[in-house]
Amino acid sequence: MEAPVNLLFSDFGLYVKTFEVYIERSTQHQCTKKFIDENLSDLVTSIGKKGASCLNVLGLGSGSGEMDLAILSKIQSQHPGLPIHNEVVEPLPQQISKYKDLVKEKGQGLNISFIWNQLSSEEYVKQNKERKESKKFDFIHMIQMVYYVESIHDTIKYFHSLLETNGKLLIIYNPDYTRFRSLSFELAGDHFVPDVQKVLDELRMKYQICKLSFGMDVTECFIEGNENGEHLLDFITHIAHFKKSVSADQKDAVLQQIRQPQFIKEENGQIILNRIMCAIVVDP
Ligand SMILES: C[S@@+](CC[C@H](N)C(=O)[O-])C[C@H]1O[C@@H](n2cnc3c(N)ncnc32)[C@H](O)[C@@H]1O
Repeated sequence: MEAPVNLLFSDFGLYVKTFEVYIERSTQHQCTKKFIDENLSDLVTSIGKKGASCLNVLGLGSGSGEMDLAILSKIQSQHPGLPIHNEVVEPLPQQISKYKDLVKEKGQGLNISFIWNQLSSEEYVKQNKERKESKKFDFIHMIQMVYYVESIHDTIKYFHSLLETNGKLLIIYNPDYTRFRSLSFELAGDHFVPDVQKVLDELRMKYQICKLSFGMDVTECFIEGNENGEHLLDFITHIAHFKKSVSADQKDAVLQQIRQPQFIKEENGQIILNRIMCAIVVDP
């Protein structure tokens, strides 16, 4: 082993870079957007208190905001004329600043005010508890962020308690992520995230689940010395500088795990990994 094994999230700059490469090489955002376009209108028609003068929305782990803005414009189109107060909880300053740029670029015409919290969800909870605040929300979403929280059980329980009577909680995550993260659990002190559905069942929550498939072009992971391939491997395994940090055997084991025939389509020199995304809508 040539370097210490560090979790990807310990290096914010690298995390953001590798996530960008991952988003370019996968159809994760397109798949999420399709779910929002096809399902959200129906889901959000009933949100909001009778006679309310605004809607309150909370985004956790918003990243650079592309999915959040898609959600906000769907909500606005279902409730024309109602202003939206949107709170953002995102720990990385780089991502918040990109989200603000996106709002400047694409947010014209939307009647939305923003509160920016550069915090992790745990810090946000702590702040609420210290201020004895428990503002309620009509819509709360956690898109691809459950892997990072200290306790998914406590996070879901707490934020679910912030839902208004007609509110909805949307959780989107990729249940197959554990297949690629065993080394980050084993070598870098990453914590295992229990199955979200199991947690919801333990908490006796009512929810609907929608499973969607999307693709990820992993061709470059198999090209020696390819920089994008290295970034992708960092993001898939969540180990910073994966190729430089693990042994040749560990690297081979991960590449084999990625190329398992039942999950792969190889065509015209491209290797596409089939992945699964779960979109869960939780009732109050
Ligand atoms: C995979 S990205 C998803 C970003 C965005 N939701 C999307 O789908 O494009 C995960 C995001 O969660 C944020 N994050 C990491 N740990 C977090 C925590 N404890 N609480 C809230 N957000 C967190 C990261 O900074 C990152 O922006």
